[in-house]
Amino acid sequence: MNFIPYGKQFIKQDDVTAVVETLKSDYLTTGPKVKEFEEALADYCGAKYCVAVANGTAALHLASLAILNKDDKVLTTPNSFLATSNSILYVGAKPLFVDIAKDGNIDLDLCEEALKKDTSIKAIYGVAFSGNMLNQEKLKHIKKTYNIKILEDNAHAIGAEYNGIKSGSCTNSDISIFSFHPVKHLTTAEGGAITTNSKALYEKLLILRGHGMVKTPDMKPWEYEMRELGFNYRITDIQCALGLSQLKKLPDFVKRRFEIAKKYDEAFNNTIIKPLYTFDGKSSYHLYVVQVDFAKLNISKVDLFHKFREKSIGIQLHYIPINKQPYYKSLGYGEENTPNMDKYYEKCFSLPMYPLLSDEEQEYVIKTTLEILNG
Ligand SMILES: Cc1ncc(COP(=O)(O)O)c(C=O)c1O
Repeated sequence: MNFIPYGKQFIKQDDVTAVVETLKSDYLTTGPKVKEFEEALADYCGAKYCVAVANGTAALHLASLAILNKDDKVLTTPNSFLATSNSILYVGAKPLFVDIAKDGNIDLDLCEEALKKDTSIKAIYGVAFSGNMLNQEKLKHIKKTYNIKILEDNAHAIGAEYNGIKSGSCTNSDISIFSFHPVKHLTTAEGGAITTNSKALYEKLLILRGHGMVKTPDMKPWEYEMRELGFNYRITDIQCALGLSQLKKLPDFVKRRFEIAKKYDEAFNNTIIKPLYTFDGKSSYHLYVVQVDFAKLNISKVDLFHKFREKSIGIQLHYIPINKQPYYKSLGYGEENTPNMDKYYEKCFSLPMYPLLSDEEQEYVIKTTLEILNG
């Protein structure tokens, strides 16, 4: 059996053709494909505006510059990739880590308790962990009741829906971000995007993406003005051509992930392997996360990872609690009361999940998982 990673891109000849055509065109960057990709993404999500950028981390950085101020307190989750809370630190704001709920997402009830106690909190940064969107009823209630900004980190969740609300639509949030890293649903190699329904935020994001520069029709032909400290977070036309081609396949990608998730759910029903949640058509399944009570087994988590490797399967762990990272500890984090996250971290790992995972490979993963854990 060839090595089976936990995630992988799906590139076909039409993707290659789209990239080659753009390579032969007049614009490799700052050309028409960028706008086309942004419009297609906004259209897909049902958001008014979209800004495509160099990667998901750049998307988070620009979003944070647009919605936060220095010293703002921001509620966020320990269960994410580092970039989510790092972006809060980038702008001199202060992440406050809140425990997770049973589905691995930030506990929005605990967020509300915190908002009631501390009226100086300015924002919530939630992550649609593994492809499972934040509870939109709760988000709506929070947005209506408290004067705060809400960012949805949808890096895992393009193609997900919650009672008809699409991820990235910003129906109950101010701003949302995506990542197009190869393990995500659709890829531009590196790449990311920000969506919003606010024209003011959109215009600010465009300026921040390009060095804080502004050029208006009344200026002299050579003139531009730098009005803010911005960045070069541009994405290329080559990447956007790939993104456009991938976006056409997104519904099929999500459908295939559903099939894989259902098959895993069935195979692990009534076993010691407990899926983080079972299939209900909401999650777009960037990850298939399971939990196992290692305290009751003859195998440690380290040995489990080694055994999977010996069998040519690359499982992963999502995530080490961010607040417990050495850098965060050096800032005084790490002792927050997050019992659910701590328990979850002891038990979780992610099985291979990507559209190109064949039925045969999936059966091999299931058989091997049961053998290793029952062994
Ligand atoms: C939840 C989450 N947010 C943000 C990012 C950052 O995205 P990128 O790798 O494109 O910078 C990632 C990437 O893994 C992620 O998983």
